[in-house]
Amino acid sequence: MSTDQEKADFYQSLAKQAQALIEDERNLIANLANLSALIFMSLEDINWAGFYLVDGDELVLGPFQGKPACIRIPMGAGVCGSAAKNRTTQIVSDVHQFEGHIACDAASNSEIVIPILSGRRLIGVLDIDSPSIARFDSIDGLGLQKMVDLLQETIV
Ligand code: SME
Repeated sequence: MSTDQEKADFYQSLAKQAQALIEDERNLIANLANLSALIFMSLEDINWAGFYLVDGDELVLGPFQGKPACIRIPMGAGVCGSAAKNRTTQIVSDVHQFEGHIACDAASNSEIVIPILSGRRLIGVLDIDSPSIARFDSIDGLGLQKMVDLLQETIV
């Protein structure tokens, strides 16, 4: 178990690596692919990390690491659809208690989803799943939001 300070330091270092990977590239798919790989190989105790992208009134699966996942999620459905519809980060301690949760991988027990915006336009969401209950807290939320902020800066 790491302290809050260690976690914050970890995310600061992760943000630097993310910045180095994406700052000179404007291709969204390339940047999402590299960010999903960086997150999946760096965070402990997770079983899925990736992106869903807005496609009409749905989300469609984007670059990710982990087991094959659900392809389309209606806006407002599940944790991802709620984050997208409300444009707010969702930190779910126990996905089995979340009404409408979409189970792509039976191993997932907690989840964090952060919306990605370009100005006022919703682009998609970052979604990370963990096999542990209550894996994500507000420090994870802030650290991962920094990654999303860096990504948003590359979207023109
Ligand atoms: N559990 C998500 C679906 C996506 S998978 O976790 C990869 C949800 O309820 O939106």
